[in-house]
Amino acid sequence: MDIFEKLKTENTPLGTYANFKEEGYFMFPKLEGEIKPRMKFQGKEVLTWSLNNYLGLANHPEVRKADAESSKDWGLAYPMGARIMSGNTTYHEQFEKELADFVQKDAAMLLNYGYQGIMSIIDAITDRKDVIVYDSESHACIVDGLRMHMGKRFVFPHNDIQNLEKQLQRATKLTEETGGGILVITEGVFGMSGDMGNLKDIVALKKKFQFRLLIDDAHGFGTMGKTGAGAGEEFGVQDQIDLYFSTFAKAMASIGAFIAGDKSIIQFLRYNVRSQIFAKSLPMPLVIGGLKRLELLRKNTDLKDNLWKVVNGLQEGLKENGFNIGKTQSPVTPVFLSGTPLEAAALVHDLRENYNIFCSIVIYPVVPKGVIMLRLIPTAVHTEADVKETIDAFVAISDKLKSGHYKSIVEEIA
Ligand SMILES: Cc1ncc(COP(=O)(O)O)c(C=O)c1O
Repeated sequence: MDIFEKLKTENTPLGTYANFKEEGYFMFPKLEGEIKPRMKFQGKEVLTWSLNNYLGLANHPEVRKADAESSKDWGLAYPMGARIMSGNTTYHEQFEKELADFVQKDAAMLLNYGYQGIMSIIDAITDRKDVIVYDSESHACIVDGLRMHMGKRFVFPHNDIQNLEKQLQRATKLTEETGGGILVITEGVFGMSGDMGNLKDIVALKKKFQFRLLIDDAHGFGTMGKTGAGAGEEFGVQDQIDLYFSTFAKAMASIGAFIAGDKSIIQFLRYNVRSQIFAKSLPMPLVIGGLKRLELLRKNTDLKDNLWKVVNGLQEGLKENGFNIGKTQSPVTPVFLSGTPLEAAALVHDLRENYNIFCSIVIYPVVPKGVIMLRLIPTAVHTEADVKETIDAFVAISDKLKSGHYKSIVEEIA
C-alpha cells in the first residue's frame, strides 16, 4: 500500500475544505498592501479585522526602520548555528533580559517559534512520572506538546475550576504513587473566544495542591495588564505564574517567542529544550527588530490605550445592537450568529463584496453545528469611523441572515 494513497481518500475535518473550489477566497486568501486597517483583497480595498496586529506595530515607522536597517546591517544568516553551539550574541541575551524584566520574571529564553517552542518546553519539563492537567480549549501547540508527554494527562472543561480541583485530586493521588509532579497549563487569553484563563482561581488552588503553572499568553502579552505584561498582571497574579510564555506573532507583529520564569528553571531549559538546541538561532533582524518593538510597547503606552478605545467602541457598539459577543474580556471579539456553513459562506461573501469588510469566519467543526462565528481583531490603528462602518454592516448582514436572504441565495445556487 502506498502511504500516500490514504491522503487522497481520507481527510481531516479541515482537510475536507482542501478541494473547495473557492480556495483563495475563504481559505488561503491574500491580503495585499501595507499592513493597516485598509488593505487590498482581490484588487479591492477592504476594512480588515483579521490581523493580530494588536498595537499596530507591524507598520509602525520606527519598527519598519529597525527591521530594514538590521536586515541591511546583518542579513538573515547571522548568527549561524544553534545558540548553544555558535549562534549566541549579546543582542539575543539583551533581548532576553529586557523581556524578563518586562514580564516581571528573573530570566527569559528566546524561542524560534511559539508553536515548536512551547511543545518542546512541555517535553523538557515533564517525564513519565509527571501528570499534566490542562484546559480543554488549549491551543493546538499545547495539545501537540501533550502528545509528546509519556505520562498521564488530565483535561478540565474550559475554565471549570471545580473540575480542575477534581483533576488535581486525581493527579495528586497518582503522583504520590509515581513520585512525579504536576504541571497545570492554560492560556492567559483564549484566542478564539477572547475570554481569559481563570488565573485567580487557578493560583488560589496552589494553597491546596502542589503544582506548577505554565501560561500561554500569546494574546495577552502587550494587550492586558497595566503595563501590558499580560494576563497575570491583569489579575495581579503574575508572581504565581511559574512559566510565562508568549509568541511575538501577535502584539509584537513579528516571529519568535519566549519563555520566562525563575533563573534556575530557565537555565535548565537552555540546556534541555530540544527545538532550540537542535535548531538555528533567531536571525539578527528578528532580535534587533524585537528589541525595538519591546521598547515601543513599553514606552508608547498610547498604543495600548488606543487599542482599548477601539475595543471598547466595537464591543459596546455590537452589544448595543443586540449582537452576542460571548464572554470576551480581551480585544478578541467573536460575533455569534446562527446558520448553516453555506449561509455563512454567502454572508461572508456579501460582507466582503458589498460592504468591503474582511474578517475571519469560523464554522463547524471549530464551533458547534448551526453556529457561525465571525471573529474581529481590533488594533490600535483602527478608527472610530472604522468601528461605525463595521457595526452598520453587521446590522445589515444580520438582518439579511434572519430574513432568510442568504438561505434563498444558497438554495438558488443548489
Ligand atoms: C495561543 C497561541 N499559542 C501559540 C501560538 C504559536 O505561536 P507562533 O505563531 O509563534 O508559532 C499561537 C499562534 O500564533 C497562539 O495563538
